[in-house]
Amino acid sequence: MKYFENKNGILRVGNVSVLTLVKAYNTPLYVYDLEIIRKKYEALRRSVPEKIKIFYAIKANPNPNVCSFIRSLGAGAEIASSGELYIALKSGFQGKHIIYNGPGKTDEDIQYAIKSGVRTINVESLDELYRIDTIAKNEGSPIRICVRINPIQGITQVKMQTGGGSQKLGIDEEQIETVIKTALKMEWVKLQGIHVYVGSQILDHTVLLNSIENTLNIACRTAQDLGFPIKCINFGGGLGVPFNESEPEFDVEQFGKGLTQLINQASQTYDLSDTCFVLEPGRFLVSEAGVFLTKVISVKESRGQKYAILDGGINHAFLPIRMNKQYPTAIANKMNFSEKHPITLGGPLCTSMDVFTTEVDLPEAEINDIISIFNSGAYGFSASLLYFLSAPMPAEVIVQNGQHFVARRRGTKEDLLSLCEIRL
Ligand SMILES: Cc1ncc(COP(=O)(O)O)c(C=O)c1O
Repeated sequence: MKYFENKNGILRVGNVSVLTLVKAYNTPLYVYDLEIIRKKYEALRRSVPEKIKIFYAIKANPNPNVCSFIRSLGAGAEIASSGELYIALKSGFQGKHIIYNGPGKTDEDIQYAIKSGVRTINVESLDELYRIDTIAKNEGSPIRICVRINPIQGITQVKMQTGGGSQKLGIDEEQIETVIKTALKMEWVKLQGIHVYVGSQILDHTVLLNSIENTLNIACRTAQDLGFPIKCINFGGGLGVPFNESEPEFDVEQFGKGLTQLINQASQTYDLSDTCFVLEPGRFLVSEAGVFLTKVISVKESRGQKYAILDGGINHAFLPIRMNKQYPTAIANKMNFSEKHPITLGGPLCTSMDVFTTEVDLPEAEINDIISIFNSGAYGFSASLLYFLSAPMPAEVIVQNGQHFVARRRGTKEDLLSLCEIRL
């Protein structure tokens, strides 16, 4: 909430009152403030060495306006599906600025990526490696690859772990020699280096630095042992954001300093002067720029517990529930109320799963109050169960310096059936 102001107790996003936004666009509504994204991007860009290239993980927020804005700041795109590749291209990213991850790429996905001239495909299994080589040959177009490694050393400090132990993601470190030797013999894949992404929502920069140190060691050791020039080392994403006042900010400045040191240190054992380094942040860039606005439809009490039922729920914002995290929450039209009471916020769906926060302290909630759920700019709209219980999709609005526009119109009942063929 540190990025938002209020005037006379009414929350403002990008210098626009939420009451103006709700009047113009109704609820449930996602609102993204581009200036916050800019601040986050610039803080990261300033802190990390120039050699580091930033590729925005568009899964965090694939709205094309958000993607295009981040592109205009100087980032490339990290994608993990053909759909995301399409969105990235439509958002103005050139193929050479797109990196393709994902453990389940089909032949069609790989063909589309090669035809689009993506910068690298990160290979996640041995069979995928063979398929990429064959498809590149059929297309008559060599393709650069990195090998995504699942390291022996993962991290235990976060809930969402994507490296270490047994994983469906990447190729186990123990198999690295076989995979790299195979890739080096191939004619149509051009091995660039390795990729490691160990987990999301990391708040302690030293945890991420430890993992990066490990990645550098793996990369340099393998390159030395197998005698290939390492052109790219990709450290993935994972930079977190605080969800409450007791959680620390990710210290991006110290992270940048640590990263410089680690790269310098690794350069003493292996020549990394021509190596490009990559970060793929998603959440860090966009989470705090987004607010989900939802209206109170009903207020009730059940056996001593107070409930506000909202017009937005698990179908529009699944991750607050899935992550079992208390997302920062406020009543946007009662920002200055000091007296607070515990209340449980639930969506409109016919399932007890559909609860945002349990017994959160808020001002007395009344019908038509606007609840704001912060940190909703990442994995909000994109990670929701948008068809669950057939409610129309929420709208997305972009706000910047007092201006606003619809970045995705509100869904309609008709949209719900637009892909169906009704025969019976
Ligand atoms: C390969 C890859 N890179 C980057 C990211 C972005 O992660 P985060 O939003 O935690 O920065 C993800 C997220 O799932 C990912 O799978």
